[in-house]
Amino acid sequence: MVVDVAELRALLTDSAPENRVLAVLAVVGALSIVGIIGRFCTWLWRYFLRPGKNLTRYGSWALVTGCTDGIGKGFCFQLAKRRLNLILVGRSQEKLDALTSELKAKYKTVQLRTVLLDFLVPDLSPGFKQIEELVAELDVGILVNNAGLSYPYARFFHEVDEDLMRNLIRMNVEVIVRMVQIVIPHMLKRKRGAIVNIGSGSASVLPSDPLYALYAGTKGFIDIFSRNLSVEYKNSGIDVQCQAPLHVATKLASIRRSSLFCPSPNSYAQSGVKWIGYESLCCPYWPHSLLWKLVNLLPHSLVDMVRMHSGLDVRRRGKAKEARKKEQ
Ligand SMILES: NC(=O)c1ccc[n+]([C@@H]2O[C@H](COP(=O)([O-])OP(=O)(O)OC[C@H]3O[C@@H](n4cnc5c(N)ncnc54)[C@H](OP(=O)(O)O)[C@@H]3O)[C@@H](O)[C@H]2O)c1
Ligand SMILES: *[C@@H]1O[C@H](CO)[C@@H](O)[C@H](O)[C@H]1NC(C)=O
Ligand SMILES: *[C@@H]1O[C@H](CO)[C@@H](O)[C@H](O)[C@H]1NC(C)=O
Repeated sequence: MVVDVAELRALLTDSAPENRVLAVLAVVGALSIVGIIGRFCTWLWRYFLRPGKNLTRYGSWALVTGCTDGIGKGFCFQLAKRRLNLILVGRSQEKLDALTSELKAKYKTVQLRTVLLDFLVPDLSPGFKQIEELVAELDVGILVNNAGLSYPYARFFHEVDEDLMRNLIRMNVEVIVRMVQIVIPHMLKRKRGAIVNIGSGSASVLPSDPLYALYAGTKGFIDIFSRNLSVEYKNSGIDVQCQAPLHVATKLASIRRSSLFCPSPNSYAQSGVKWIGYESLCCPYWPHSLLWKLVNLLPHSLVDMVRMHSGLDVRRRGKAKEARKKEQ
């Protein structure tokens, strides 16, 4: 783009008002094109060129909740690949054992500790005490606060029963906060650490997630909590981040097959680890970020309508499936 500055200046000082308007429009147009190019370059840099941080600088151990399946399991393999030792927190001994042998087989030198804990048991104190002791003993530099719960299928808020309501708030709010509370004092002492809280695109990317309102609400809490924490602790060497994925092919999303816009948990985690320590709110998998841009270009009322429509469809199918199960 060639801008003749002398000519532009002449137009701007031209006595004819229509020439001055034209000149102002040209300047505004040029500036917005520069802005768009700048944003595109930033996007390219962040998604394809920027190297991931050296994660062992945060400490030699990482703690992952919800590690035995889906995104959390993906993170375990990616972190072990980057030479981190792992504290694995899971609710099934069998799955923890299987994960331990898979990790050991692939990464011979990785050290592993496991904690068996179901986050939905009435009394969490003994479990959290066990985690606290491990965190006090080991150099835990990274927390991946990943365990989370969604609805079995879409529904109106008045159809969310007491148990589901309590469990969602327990897992997606209380447990997230408690885990941060456990690791922060130790990270503060060492002046280094990274906290990754797994939020959701349903709260941070989409304008709404109808028929998942309580889920979206708890994930919105994670977004705001993380971003505010990040400001609080930035100068203490602790990087706090909320990662907001859109669909990932896991049992929580009831999606088995991966595709470009719905990655396997391992491809998601491959992107996820590269973002650790950077922006306090991010959507690490690049096709998800394209959807984010697209959503922002569309009128939100249109997106809401489409989401409500597909939510109702998921609800109908979920109800039918539940009815069939009851009959059997
Ligand atoms: N998948 C998506 O499309 C998507 C999109 C946005 C955000 N997310 C978020 O990503 C995170 C991980 O979800 P995911 O899709 O990977 O789900 P997932 O495949 O169902 O895995 C969830 C993990 O959490 C564990 N977990 C579940 N209930 C637990 C409990 N009561 N106590 C202890 N651990 C428990 C599971 O243990 P088991 O192995 O024993 O089942 C599993 O390891 C969640 O916070 C979710 O909200 C997912
Ligand atoms: C990463 O950091 C660790 C600890 O500071 C250091 O030992 C290691 O050499 C670094 N790795 C790379 C690839 O820079
Ligand atoms: C911090 O929390 C407030 C709500 O109390 C929210 O409006 C704000 O966006 C958050 N700040 C950041 C940096 O996320």
